[in-house]
This record gives sequence, structure tokens and C-alpha cells, in this order.
Amino acid sequence: MSTTIAVIPGDGIGPEIMRATLRVIDALGLDIAYDFVEAGLAAQDKCGELLPQATLDVIARHKVALKSPLTTPVGEGFTSINVALRKKFDLYANVRPAISFPGTKSRYENIDILTVRENTEGAYIGEGQQVSADGETATATQKITHKGSERIVRYAFDLARSAGRRKVTIVHKANILKSTSGLFLKIAREVSAQYPDIEHNEMIVDNTCMQLVMNPWQFDVIVTTNLFGDILSDLCAGLVGGLGLAPGANIGADAAIFEAVHGSAPDIAGRGIANPCALLLGAGQMLGHLGFEEHANRLRQAIRATIAAKDRVTPDLGGSGTTEGFADALIERLR
Ligand SMILES: NC(=O)c1ccc[n+]([C@@H]2O[C@H](COP(=O)([O-])OP(=O)(O)OC[C@H]3O[C@@H](n4cnc5c(N)ncnc54)[C@H](O)[C@@H]3O)[C@@H](O)[C@H]2O)c1
Repeated sequence: MSTTIAVIPGDGIGPEIMRATLRVIDALGLDIAYDFVEAGLAAQDKCGELLPQATLDVIARHKVALKSPLTTPVGEGFTSINVALRKKFDLYANVRPAISFPGTKSRYENIDILTVRENTEGAYIGEGQQVSADGETATATQKITHKGSERIVRYAFDLARSAGRRKVTIVHKANILKSTSGLFLKIAREVSAQYPDIEHNEMIVDNTCMQLVMNPWQFDVIVTTNLFGDILSDLCAGLVGGLGLAPGANIGADAAIFEAVHGSAPDIAGRGIANPCALLLGAGQMLGHLGFEEHANRLRQAIRATIAAKDRVTPDLGGSGTTEGFADALIERLR
């Protein structure tokens, strides 16, 4: 039976890396159809809205979307379309792998860390943001719920179990943020007790940053709240050579959106030299989510082998290849 996914080509380098990624998915020989929809600047140009209802309807219908980066217009009162999508579909789990690729320039080798970040609450969503009339005081609300904490920690332990991972590190700041981070830690302890087969430990967020830099190999799966996860997952991407190889999955009960972590790279848009790897790795996460784990593994192995051989890799990886040329190299390997 054919599977249809929503595809958002995005802005800047988005359409270029999406075109290459879909060609590679096609080469895997799966029966996947694409329903193209717009969001971001492309949508604003076409329909006068950054996130049209028609796009939301298509994502809701297919339940799975592959999304290229979207440019968020900077200015007062702007809303991030990515944050809006997470809210709209209650995409509570942000799963970001940081994996070493032989042949890339990075500070560490043999890293394999999965950050599971709560995506819908906490300090990051900026609820109740206010600046006093005199401009002297700014406040914001930070809300952590029992439900939100329980489902993200359970998601992390279930993922660890299904992916054959050995350990989950619960990251918090409950020594200072006793109510919010304290509630998260309390629930995390209760949930972790239900997974005796998975080792777990607790770590305060600032120490986690230092430990990641000093001995990243001690980490396997990290689960944490929204803002800490945002920062830690970028730190993890930095351990393995930056955002060009960093994908992310946003998972909810009724929908899931897969993406590259990097932005729309306006500085190189239209030149055909963007690295499609992060979106390809996001597509790999998507294939796993759709039940095509074997195809996802083939895709990841082809990416590893192509990068290790420095076969037509793009300038950010030290090569002189193009987006399409790299896709060709992958397709040749897959066949
Ligand atoms: N998920 C998303 O949709 C997302 C994420 C981050 C930023 N953004 C948006 O992207 C726009 C640009 O943001 P930015 O410049 O801060 O970050 P960026 O990630 O777009 O670019 C940072 C640097 O990395 C390079 N780069 C990024 N992706 C690359 C790739 N695939 N191949 C080669 N080089 C790559 C760029 O050329 C640039 O030099 C902003 O509007 C921002 O809001 C979107």
C-alpha cells in the first residue's frame, strides 16, 4: 500500500536540499507519494500567510511531514512557524541524534548521542512574556506539567528500549528551579523506576554541559525539558562537526514532522552547494517512524560510506561537490 507524506520545500536552500532528498528516497524503491505544501516565505508569497490552513490540513491528513528549513522573519511580534507547528500538532518529543561521521572534521570520534527534548512547555515557549511599562522589568512564565513530563520521559525510555540503547540521563536544574525542574525530576524518577532494564542517571544541566565536552562517550540517551534540550542538542551537534549533519524529529501522538536542524542558509541559497545530509538523515528518522527501518539503515549506511569516501561531498564538508552531485553519489551506492 502506498504511503503519502506531506512535503514542505521551505525557503532559501530548502527546495534544493528537498529535491535531492526526495530523489534519494525514491532510489530506495519505496512506494511513497509526496503531497507538496507551502509554509514560510514561499507561502506568504503565494497565499499571503506564513502558515496556511491548507498546509495544516494536509499534514493532519497524512500525519507525517518532511520539512525543509523555513525563514522566520525577524522583527517585533514575529512567530516562529516551527514553534507554531509544534503547538498546533502537539509534537511533544523532539528527537535529535548526534552521530560521528568518519571523514568529517570534528573534535571527537565515535559519538552517538540521542537528545530527547520536551517540545511543548517549559521556559522555551515564552508564555506570559511581559515588559513593564517603564521598560525596567521583564517577566515570563515557565510551566511544567505532570502530563508533559511523564510523556516525554516515557518516550525517552521506550525509545531507548526499542533502539537497544543502554542508558538514559535525566537532565534538570532541580537544585535551583525547585518547582518546575523539581516536578520534572520527580516524575522522571517515577517513570525510570518502571524501566529496570534501562540504566539511568540524573545530572544537573550545567554539569552536563561540562561532562559533554570532557567525556561525551558517557552519554547515550539524554532526556530533558524544552530550553535545556534546545541548548544541549546544539552542543551535541557541535561535538560531531556542526549542524550540517544534524537532523531532528518532532513527534506527537497524531502527527510527526521530520527536518534538518539548520536554517534556510540564505547566504548560499540558489548556488546548488548546500549539504543535503541533515535533511536526508531526518528522512531516515521518518522512514524508521513509518516502519521502514531497514530502508532507513540502508540510507544511513550509504550516507556514511559516501562521506567517508569524500565522494562528491559539498564545500561545508571540505569537498567541491554540489547538492545534486552528492545525491547522485548516494543513489549510485544505494543501487
Ligand atoms: N528549522 C528551521 O526551519 C530553522 C532552523 C534555524 C534557523 N532557521 C531560519 O533560517 C534563517 C537563517 O538562519 P541562520 O543564518 O541563523 O542559520 P543557518 O543554519 O541557515 O545558517 C548558518 C550557517 O550555516 C550554513 N549552512 C546551514 N545549512 C547548511 C547546509 N545544509 N549546507 C551548507 N551550509 C549550511 C549557512 O550557509 C550559514 O553560513 C533564519 O530566518 C532562521 O530563522 C530555520
